[in-house]
Amino acid sequence: DIQLRELFRNTEKYAGKEVVVRGWVRQNRNSNKFGFINLNDGTFFQPVQIVYEADKLDNFEEVAKAPLSSALLIKGTMLMTPDAKQPFEIHAEEVTMEADSAADYPLQNKRHSMEFLREIAHLRPRSNTFAAVFRVRSLVAYAIHKFFQERDFVYVHTPIITGSDAEGAGEMFQVTTLDMKNPPLTEDGKIDYSQDFFGKETNLTVSGQLEAEIFALAFRNVYTFGPTFRAENSNTARHASEFWMIEPEIAFADLDNDMQVAEDMVKYIINYVLENAPEEMEFFNKFVDKGLLDRLHHVVNSDFDRVPYTKAVEILQKADKEFQYPVEWGIDLQTEHERYLTEEVFKKPIFVTDYPKDIKAFYMRLNDDGKTVAACDMLVPDVGEIIGGSQREERMDVLQARMKEMGLNEKDYWWYLELRKYGGVKHAGYGLGFERMIMYVTGMSNIRDVLPFPRTPKTSEF
Ligand code: 4AD
Ligand code: MG
Repeated sequence: DIQLRELFRNTEKYAGKEVVVRGWVRQNRNSNKFGFINLNDGTFFQPVQIVYEADKLDNFEEVAKAPLSSALLIKGTMLMTPDAKQPFEIHAEEVTMEADSAADYPLQNKRHSMEFLREIAHLRPRSNTFAAVFRVRSLVAYAIHKFFQERDFVYVHTPIITGSDAEGAGEMFQVTTLDMKNPPLTEDGKIDYSQDFFGKETNLTVSGQLEAEIFALAFRNVYTFGPTFRAENSNTARHASEFWMIEPEIAFADLDNDMQVAEDMVKYIINYVLENAPEEMEFFNKFVDKGLLDRLHHVVNSDFDRVPYTKAVEILQKADKEFQYPVEWGIDLQTEHERYLTEEVFKKPIFVTDYPKDIKAFYMRLNDDGKTVAACDMLVPDVGEIIGGSQREERMDVLQARMKEMGLNEKDYWWYLELRKYGGVKHAGYGLGFERMIMYVTGMSNIRDVLPFPRTPKTSEF
């Protein structure tokens, strides 16, 4: 049999010929003489139209009753239909039922709410919206690898179970084999992790950055691409407990170099998806986010502004808009602020740079003003922050002072400090939230709907 992608992409090769296809019924309409089936095998976004006639099939009755999501094998002739909506149809000569489907199939041919579809996460990849989302997700993953591999970055697999808190924010899921209802205790009454599986306290990683830095100082250009976990209890449309992150790390690079790579990468991803998923992108543009394609085309052809945090705060303070969260120097920018900057002021992605050190992680390089760090967040319309990055603090004494200030234990980071001792050149990197990038290119507005199996507080099927 021929897969539908092959058929749709090479119609002239198969026009007028006999073909065999298989797939699932997405729609079946008929009279007592003939009928039409929309059949999809999942390899192509659009279904193929099958025309069948009572005169030609011995099992016309059976085919006419083929329910939604039953699977059929069809032998027929492919005919071009230049005047119709679909480019061609297949006139069936033989139809075999490969799998029946029960009449209570939940995905009837109508618009379902995203909430309903989330409840049937095992069936939703068959709907148009999720067929488009998850193919684009796959393509974006490939585009990211392609981007970095073409630039000779080495792909590093950083650990998923780790003994260090990369962000120093304490939002980790613990991994333990101890009986936590009745844990062994040390003499001073603390949990005795020396008896735990790894002989110390371990967690699921929140970021592969610190380990990526190890490799950057050996290979110069590296990236990670893996799952990360955060036990932050933020029930928003942009936070998941399990999400994927891409983290390049570049030796001999400063913040400007870092931002250039980030900007090039985002444009590369958008171009790749526009080129390789035209049907899906057309669908998003029509049904999910009107104007999406125009906006993305504009983005790939523009330069992203770089706005120092202090300037961003001034812009927000001058805005003729009441924010729920008042703006003053030192605050962490909230989604409403990020959206105002990208949607009302700049109308495209921007970098906000040089944040106050007190709201950023311990590893970011302290600027000469002593108050801000060499950080860069990429903010985009509708989604907000999709990238967080920085130049790293390569000066041993400054790093030690920062860690002390933040109450981090040097012993836990001994190897990280040694990187500064042995050829610790300047270096920089960033983390792209994979799901937020998917939200941005598809126009989907909830992170739960770009994750195949979303995990958020209090919800976790599978
Ligand atoms: O800004 P973050 O916390 O930065 C880091 O983890 C650095 N170690 C990255 C680096 O410099 N190598 O996270 C990076 C990105 C955010 O910009 C956001 O897009 C995404 O990861 N992110 C989340 N995405 C979904 N759900 C969450 N709970 C997320 N937390 C962060
Ligand atoms: Mg961040």
